[in-house]
Formats: sequence, C-alpha cells, structure tokens
Amino acid sequence: MNYQTKYEEYRLFTETALKQAVSDMQCHTQILQESISYSLMAGGKRIRPVLFLAMLDALGIDYRKEQAFAVAIECIHTYSLIHDDLPAMDNDDFRRGKPSNHKVFGEANAILAGDGLLSYAFEVLIGECYKGVRYVNASKTLAAAAGLQGMVAGQSADLLHSGKPIGEVGEKELQMIHFHKTADLIAAPLVMAANLAEKHEEEVRAFGLSLGYLFQITDDILDETGKAEEVGKTLGKDKTEGKLTCVKVYGLEKAMRLSREMTENCLSLLRKIDADTSFLEQLVINLSNRNK
Ligand code: IPE
Ligand code: IPE
Ligand code: MG
Ligand code: MG
Ligand code: MG
Repeated sequence: MNYQTKYEEYRLFTETALKQAVSDMQCHTQILQESISYSLMAGGKRIRPVLFLAMLDALGIDYRKEQAFAVAIECIHTYSLIHDDLPAMDNDDFRRGKPSNHKVFGEANAILAGDGLLSYAFEVLIGECYKGVRYVNASKTLAAAAGLQGMVAGQSADLLHSGKPIGEVGEKELQMIHFHKTADLIAAPLVMAANLAEKHEEEVRAFGLSLGYLFQITDDILDETGKAEEVGKTLGKDKTEGKLTCVKVYGLEKAMRLSREMTENCLSLLRKIDADTSFLEQLVINLSNRNK
C-alpha cells in the first residue's frame, strides 16, 4: 500500500474515533460542546495519532483496537492549540484555517474548552488502564509529555524568552523550548505504541524526540516562508512577537540546513528500530518538506 493511502487510512480512523468521542462527551452546556467540537473537528493533520497508529502497526499490534489512546492524544494536542492561541499567550486569530476558538466563543469558553479536552483525555486514559500495566505505562507517557516536564514547561519557556535579544538567550534556550513544547508530544504517541508492544522504548523515544525537533524547526520556517492559505494560521507572527525560533537564532538559510540535517538524523535513528518502518521513513521525509 502506498504512503498516501496508508496515511489517509490512519487519519480517517482517527476522524471517526474523534467524531464518536465528541458525541460521547455530552457536555452539560451546549456552548462548551460546540466550542470543543469546533476546534477538535476542524481538521488538522492528525499527525500525532497517525504516529501512534503507524508505530503500533510497525511493532505488530492491531491498531484498530487502540482508538481510545488516539483520541486522548489528539484531545491533548487540540487543547494545547486552543490555549496557545489565547490573547495571553500567542494571541493568534486563526487556527486550522478558521478563526481561533476564542475569536468565536470568547476567551472564557476557549479556556474551558481546553480544560475540558485535557480532563476528557485523562478520563479516556484511565478508562484503558484496567487492561494492564502496558496501558498504565502508555498513559503515564502521555501524562508526562503533556505536563510540567513536557509541553507545559516548553510553553512556559517560550513565553519567558519571547522578546529577549539574541545573546541574552540563544541555542540552549531554543532547544529547551523546542524539545518540550513540541517534541515531547510528538515522541509520546510513538513511545506509547512501544509501551503497548513492550519493546524498543528507548530507540523509539530517541527517534520521536528528533522528529519532534524537526517538526518545530519546520513550523518556525513555515511561519516565515509559508502560505497562510496552506498553513491555516496567521504567518509572520513569530517575528512580530519576538519569539525565540530557530530562524531568529540561526537565520533562515542555516535553519533550513539544520532541518535537512535533522531529517538525516531522524532516518538514521529510525533504522535502529528493529521493525518495518517504511511508512515512518516516508513520513519523516514528507514532514521535512511539508507546506502546512
Ligand atoms: C501545531 O501543530 C503546533 C505545533 C506544535 C507546531 P500541528 O502542525 O500538528 O497542527 P495541526 O494539528 O495540524 O493543526
Ligand atoms: C506551539 O508552538 C506549541 C504548542 C504547544 C501548541 P507555536 O506557538 O509555534 O505553534 P503555532 O505556530 O501557533 O501552531
Ligand atoms: Mg506558541
Ligand atoms: Mg502559537
Ligand atoms: Mg509556530
């Protein structure tokens, strides 16, 4: 099966599971239900669930039985986007090609939609844990990646270092931001699959972190060079907000070179995993060339 067909299969599996989750949520207020559905069902590449499902496939596990974790992963990611766009954070008006959640539902509802998605994700994770220690370990992987040593820490550092001149901040701070705000939540779904398969955890984590780093380098480059209609968000904002990005630290040309080097690094780490990783190999290459 070719790469595009396979990606579409994983993506559609995720869409169906998310649609079911939205109808199961049954929020007690209609506005919260609408606000969650607005952001969660707005599309997006679904890259994190796709990574989870593809790694399960590679490690010989039937991914069709694991939709719960795919939902939890995308709920946490979507919550992070809703909160990231808030005026108190990046103050972004567009997301996934539509007005940001707070532009439609107001800031308070956007905060609550994020809170609701995060809590729901944990409800889903805990609901899987009766299946055994493999599921407990996978749930812990996602919890750690989302939290105070993961995405939340990275977001805190991102805000802390915004607007500071190079010299006062640099490569060290940039790497801390990239690894935590983004790479932890890209690595987590891959490691969760390894947790369920009970093999190759360390090799998979090393690959996932490297892929996450590449993913954020590309996000920073796209903010500078992308087309708004493809990326689906307001571009050029990192510069106006003084964000500490790889373009700010290295300049565009060196950032692009770094992206090529990281692509090679990802591919070599992937080769260390003893499994059929041909789909993931293609995914690395496509992500490094992505336009959205
Ligand atoms: C955007 O993530 C936020 C980052 C961590 C760079 P994605 O680029 O995966 O966004 P969607 O899910 O496709 O909208
Ligand atoms: C976001 O990084 C990382 C998150 C945890 C959401 P960015 O702020 O660069 O993501 P975009 O560019 O708004 O999608
Ligand atoms: Mg941000
Ligand atoms: Mg942002
Ligand atoms: Mg960005």
